[in-house]
Amino acid sequence: MDLYQKDVVSIMDFSKDDIEGILDMAEEMVPYAKGEKIKRSLDGKILGNLFFEPSTRTKLSFESAAYRLGCDVIDVSEMSMTSMAKGETLADTIKIVDAYCDVTVLRHPYEGASKMAAKFSDHPVINAGDGAGSHPTQTLLDLFTMRQAKGSLDGLNIALVGDLKYGRTVHSLAQGLTKYGMKISLVSPETLKMPDEIVQHLTENGCSPRIRTLEDAVAEADVLYVTRIQRERFPDPSEYQKVAGVYRIDNALLQNAKDDLIVMHPLPRVNEIAPEVDKTHHAKYFQQAANGVPVRMAILNAILGGEM
Ligand code: CP
Repeated sequence: MDLYQKDVVSIMDFSKDDIEGILDMAEEMVPYAKGEKIKRSLDGKILGNLFFEPSTRTKLSFESAAYRLGCDVIDVSEMSMTSMAKGETLADTIKIVDAYCDVTVLRHPYEGASKMAAKFSDHPVINAGDGAGSHPTQTLLDLFTMRQAKGSLDGLNIALVGDLKYGRTVHSLAQGLTKYGMKISLVSPETLKMPDEIVQHLTENGCSPRIRTLEDAVAEADVLYVTRIQRERFPDPSEYQKVAGVYRIDNALLQNAKDDLIVMHPLPRVNEIAPEVDKTHHAKYFQQAANGVPVRMAILNAILGGEM
């Protein structure tokens, strides 16, 4: 694996070997992520954290990951607090931030924003979510969580549930799953189906997805990956109201699940997983969020050339 100075814009830019290399490195990072051991492999580096959409996990876990490796962080959370409020373009903003740091992490409401930012940056750019596009570092921590729980990723049966149209985490994840020959089931309202180009990518890569009811998917799955209906992406709020709350995972539903089913969710959740599920051995979503730190440590260390 040689990811030195590489952008992280799409999971499709990574080979299976690259992904496995990051997951292996993330495993080594766990005691450092918890503060049980100290590592300063990125001492003297600076990360620019630009979040132009709300975030709890991605923003804070990138910050935590950077600090755990001795890397400093400069950040902006509001476009209104940058000179974009005065009319500066995103391209110019990115060039300036690039001059001030060694890596830029960008969350932006527009699909393709990170790809554009990478063109204007000399240093690596990491896509921390671009509108309804993709979220590749989320995929890496999702795969890490699955491997941690299941031992191996190859051939697992996974159901992607919820907003498959606007949910960027499921777009990236679906693309990542093809590298492991997973059996993929899709569960969504008709209006929130997985985009055709992603279904085509899955099919061309030997993972032709099956459309399932929630009940059938739960009974068959090794991994149930649940997503929030992305209210903020609906052009018409009345369309959101038609599908809000359409799926809810609770203990009664999980009665028919395999005993070793794991339930994942990129979070935040609204009401699609009942809090009672949190106490079951199926629930992995809080561990999944915690895994954001070691996985993002591994990504930063790899692209900035930190020693292991
Ligand atoms: N999973 C995820 O991207 O969460 P945040 O929006 O809180 O960063």
